[in-house]
Amino acid sequence: MTGMAGTTRTANAGVGADTHTDADTDAAAAPAIDVRGLTKRYGGRAVVDDVALRVAPGRICGFLGPNGSGKTTTIRMLCGLLVPDAGSGTCLGLDIGAQALEIRRQVGYMTQRFGLYEDLSIRENLDFIGRLYELPDRRGAVERTLVRLGLVQRQQQLAGTLSGGWKQRLALAACLMHEPRLLLLDEPTAGVDPKARREFWDQIHALAGEGITVLVSTHYMDEAERCHELVYIAYGKVLARGTQAEIIAGAGLVVWAVQGEGAGTQVALVEALKAAPGVLSVAAFGNTLHVAGRDEAQLAVAIAPHRGRPGLEWRRTEANLEDVFISLIGQARDNFAAEAAE
Ligand SMILES: Nc1ncnc2c1ncn2[C@@H]1O[C@H](COP(=O)(O)OP(=O)(O)OP(=O)(O)O)[C@@H](O)[C@H]1O
Ligand SMILES: [Mg+2]
Repeated sequence: MTGMAGTTRTANAGVGADTHTDADTDAAAAPAIDVRGLTKRYGGRAVVDDVALRVAPGRICGFLGPNGSGKTTTIRMLCGLLVPDAGSGTCLGLDIGAQALEIRRQVGYMTQRFGLYEDLSIRENLDFIGRLYELPDRRGAVERTLVRLGLVQRQQQLAGTLSGGWKQRLALAACLMHEPRLLLLDEPTAGVDPKARREFWDQIHALAGEGITVLVSTHYMDEAERCHELVYIAYGKVLARGTQAEIIAGAGLVVWAVQGEGAGTQVALVEALKAAPGVLSVAAFGNTLHVAGRDEAQLAVAIAPHRGRPGLEWRRTEANLEDVFISLIGQARDNFAAEAAE
């Protein structure tokens, strides 16, 4: 594997990897994840492109980005399941190239799809995982994990008969069996109801409280808000990183909110705003539309034709994460198209 230190970094709207100093995390502790230049190509196309990640121990880092942006591919490279075409670094102090096998033993990886046996019970699934890891005290590990994840009452239930939320809990239990210090969770709550998601996240925070580091991919903004820090990736490139506040501040967006009966569903209004110069994102939140751009004057011109429309109420508002991410993906799409045309 070749090191790529010294190559140009991708643009960051938020806090760059360069500015992420040890002082703002834990000065003494070595990062749990510390990789740079990670690149993976399929058919000549870089689906992960020069990605740097650094996560301090005990932190929860949210990994966000649209479908196909390279999250799963990155996670698989971090835990040694996929060999990068370029890049270097460590997970838990172990080299992602030379010590991939050791990383796999020490990291808990929850795959995007449920990978356990539906025709085995919760207990039998955990016991099977214990065998895979050749755990010395398998029985004890199963008992501890059942208690830790609140699965004792259901231990005899077949995995295939569990609801989505309980399946995810079992999958988390399975990747905790060998007491990993780093968890790589790939969309662990996709399709899970809000209450079960909240409970899952309480569990994640409890684990982080024990010093476990978590990299978790998600498409849910409420989950992004529960992370200590975020990395946003699109077309394989990191477009923003930092805390929620840092990312929002770094984007420098001006946002107008327009409220009215069905504002979110007035297709003509949305389309007109989207097409106007200077508008980077138009997003509906219930009956409110957020119209965001970076240039205050240009945005004022864009909304001017619609300001006088009856039934609509306009006001300036703060940007939220979704405004920022939609703006970033729009710009990235333009850059990507320009690169492809070159
Ligand atoms: N084995 C493969 N061969 C060819 N292309 C691949 C392979 N694996 C992934 N890709 C492509 O790489 C890109 C990134 O895929 P990846 O699964 O990492 O995205 P993702 O961010 O996890 O998306 P999602 O949010 O849908 O899970 C996609 O365009 C995908 O089609
Ligand atoms: Mg994925």
